Amino acid sequence: MNIQKEIEKLKKEKNAIILAHNYQLPEIQDIADFVGDSLNLSIKAKDTKAQIIIFCGVYFMAETAKILSPHKKVLIPVKEAGCSLADNITVQQINRLKKKHPNAKVLCYVNTTAEIKAKSDIVCTSANAVEVTEKVLKDEEVIFIPDKYLGLYTMRKTNKKFILHSGYCPVHVSIRKEDIKRQKRLHPKAKILAHPECLPEVIDLADKVLSTEGMCRYAKKTKFQEMIIATEIGILHRLRKENPKKKFYPASKTAVCPFMKVIRLKDVLDSLKYERYPVEVPLSVRLGAYRAIQEMLKVS
Ligand code: 13P
Ligand code: SF4
Repeated sequence: MNIQKEIEKLKKEKNAIILAHNYQLPEIQDIADFVGDSLNLSIKAKDTKAQIIIFCGVYFMAETAKILSPHKKVLIPVKEAGCSLADNITVQQINRLKKKHPNAKVLCYVNTTAEIKAKSDIVCTSANAVEVTEKVLKDEEVIFIPDKYLGLYTMRKTNKKFILHSGYCPVHVSIRKEDIKRQKRLHPKAKILAHPECLPEVIDLADKVLSTEGMCRYAKKTKFQEMIIATEIGILHRLRKENPKKKFYPASKTAVCPFMKVIRLKDVLDSLKYERYPVEVPLSVRLGAYRAIQEMLKVS
């Protein structure tokens, strides 16, 4: 039996679901029951009836699934799948920020550890940072953590001034405006789609600024046939699969997230077989993180 069939069989036997992020390797996306961005994966994890969730993404995403579905078994096939942006802020740093700005609300990007979420007032993803700010925090002083570029983009869209932390995603920051200009010269008819973690000078060149799911949705419905994609290149697999007649060009072929590429088919199979590696969040942390995520889900 080939590995895909073995995974399929075990998945049914164990009442398991495989969730994969849009940046995962093509073969992982192809065996997943659901492929999406951070927001949609969280919602799926919350709503699924499956008893086991195999989470193919990075650790903070699997942790979010566990926070939302504490009675389910959430497994990550490779536990070293981290995220350097999520690791960028420590509990001491957030405590210091809160002490310095005691009246400010903390808006926390989902790319953070559960401990950091538990210390925040509300979570957001790249898909809803603007919406959450406008609906919940319009009249508040806001500390935005940890991604300064998503923070800057949200400030621009909402005309608000945030207190920013200094974090950033090295993959998105590696995409330069020169990369976009080069692709635009090669493909003058192509629309430019950029992720809000990108540098402001890249955002300035974009026709649309979208989360990964937003990009997939836009690509399907637009009449435009060519698009330059300024985010991690793993998303190109889904874009091309769902839109075989359209053309997609990576803004930069080197925009590869090493953490998103560690999970292989064999790891997924072993994860199902041996039920490894379980993601656990201590109750004291989980309750706080759950509250902050729920605040987001209420509005988005
Ligand atoms: P999305 O929520 O847009 O999929 O982004 C996740 C991520 O890690 C971006 O770097
Ligand atoms: Fe983290 Fe950046 Fe990788 Fe997303 S692309 S998982 S933010 S390091």
